[in-house]
Formats: sequence, structure tokens, C-alpha cells
Amino acid sequence: MIVRHLLRDDDLTAAEQAEILARAARIKAHPFTDRTLAGPEVVAVLFDKQTLRTQVSFSAAIAHLGGFPMVIDGKLAAIGVRESIADVARVLGREAVAIVWRTHGQDRIEEMAQFAQIPVVNALTDDFHPCQILADLLTIQEHRGPLPGLTLAYVGDGANNMAHSYLLGGALAGLHVRIGTPAAYQPRADILERARHLAAEQGGSITVTDDPVAAVDGADAVATDTWVSMGQEDEVDTRKGEASPFAPYAVTADLMARAKPDAIFLHCLPAYRGYEVAAEVIDGPQSVVWDESENRLHAQKAVLSWLVEQHRDAG
Ligand code: NVA
Repeated sequence: MIVRHLLRDDDLTAAEQAEILARAARIKAHPFTDRTLAGPEVVAVLFDKQTLRTQVSFSAAIAHLGGFPMVIDGKLAAIGVRESIADVARVLGREAVAIVWRTHGQDRIEEMAQFAQIPVVNALTDDFHPCQILADLLTIQEHRGPLPGLTLAYVGDGANNMAHSYLLGGALAGLHVRIGTPAAYQPRADILERARHLAAEQGGSITVTDDPVAAVDGADAVATDTWVSMGQEDEVDTRKGEASPFAPYAVTADLMARAKPDAIFLHCLPAYRGYEVAAEVIDGPQSVVWDESENRLHAQKAVLSWLVEQHRDAG
């Protein structure tokens, strides 16, 4: 049996991503009508990295769907240390209907998916953050209308999980995705190539530039992320110090003013005011970050119920 997963954004086709976004919008309007996990069925939710929003939104999502969120501290479970990822996957696969995992390397979640025999959802790895992008696309759609043809500018660390997921998920949605990042922090070449291919298929485009103003110019949505991702703590001086290579990419009111007058500002959070974003932007009228944060719940309900349904239909 082929088991579907969401390990990276392009595990979904463009049509499937659109279907999940439509489902998320329906679920948001009628929060307790989808009872896919009634039983309650168990979803294992594992964290090898810090979390607030992801634990809250997945726990709420699973509860709303009628299921039970079994939150597992990855440090306690020592996945891949105390026993192999494959063995953890086999154990969880017998008792849960899906696995949600926040971990480090993409290879770890790929191994989990290979052995679990139930759907596995990436709740952030070093390389991708697909659930956040689904929430962001839902938010952009709510505030700016149909996605195809809109321009999303992401400025900051072009080599991190958010940049990679904006490239793939944005391309699938038919967006014009612009990444403004220093030359030393370019997106991974294979992801960029894949995004260019998907964008061409969907009528969007991909632009990578080291000019933050060119990236943001006339955009419908402007996004950024922390300059120091989880796991990069030993680079904090280089990334956040006085000579930070990201300083020109900070979303100040001046940079935001280069986007469309009614452009929205997105940030996956946690945010560091005075670094990647000015307080007046994230706390200002163009910011939709709290809608975006709430939309994690609706998007994740949609993706979980969709994947579990696919799995049941296939079985
Ligand atoms: N790029 C950030 C995203 C946090 C949600 C990180 O990986 O820490």
C-alpha cells in the first residue's frame, strides 16, 4: 500500500494543495464538523526541537477532529539514539493513525515515513516547514484573494526551512515568489530548481536576489523569519551581531513601504523585534501574524484529516 505523507511541500500536487486549502477554509467556518479522528484515534506528536505554536495547534487540531494528541518529548524518547528511527516508526505505526514530527535532518523524517506504514507529517525540519506554509497560503488567500498571480516576498535567511517551503509551496500555489537574501545564504540549488519547475507549470515564477528592495517592490505579501533557526544557536554572533549579513533585509517600515500599499506582513513566529522585523511593522496595521498563527490550526486539521482519509481509502 502506498502511504501518503507531508514531508516536504511538494509531496502534494498543486491540485491537492489547493484542495487542502479549500478544506481548511471550510473547517475554519465550521470547526467541529470534521470528525475524522473520532474514536478517539491517536496521533503521535513528537518534538526533538522547541515548540509552542506547533504543539498547541496540532494538539487542538487533533482534539477538534475527535482524536487524542499523544505528545512525546523527543529528548525523553531519544529517537535514533535509544533505538532506531525505524523501530520507533514500527511501534508508533501499530498504535497511532498518524505521526507528526518536529526534528532536525530531513533524512530522519524520511526514515520515519519509510517504516511507519501510517501518514507522517513534517512539523518542521532543518530543511522544510510545510504546515506553516499551508497556514500562510490560507492567510494570504483570506486577505488578498485567489493565490495564482500574487507576489510573495520573503526577505532574510534564504537557506532556511521557511525559505525552502515558501519556494515549493508558493510555486505550487502559482505565486510569484521572491527571495531577498545575501549571496552567502542562497536557497539550496536542488530546491530552487524544483521550485522553478513547479512555478513554470503553475504560471508563477521564482526570483532570488540580494537586493531587499527589489525583492519587496510591489509585493502583495512580505514575509520574514528569525535569522537564527533552531539548531544554529552557535552561529548567533555572526547571524545577529552588529555586522549581521541579514541587517539590510530587516522588514522596517521603510522596506514595507516598498510593497503594495495594502500588502500584508507575515511571520511564522517566534519573532525578534529589532532584528528581522521592526516592532512598528509586526505590531502595525499591515501585520496579519495572529491570523497566520491561528491558521496553523485550520490548515493542520485539513492536512491531517486529508491524509488519514487517503490512508483509509487506500487500505
Ligand atoms: N526557521 C525557524 C522557524 C521557526 C518556526 C527555525 O527553524 O527555528
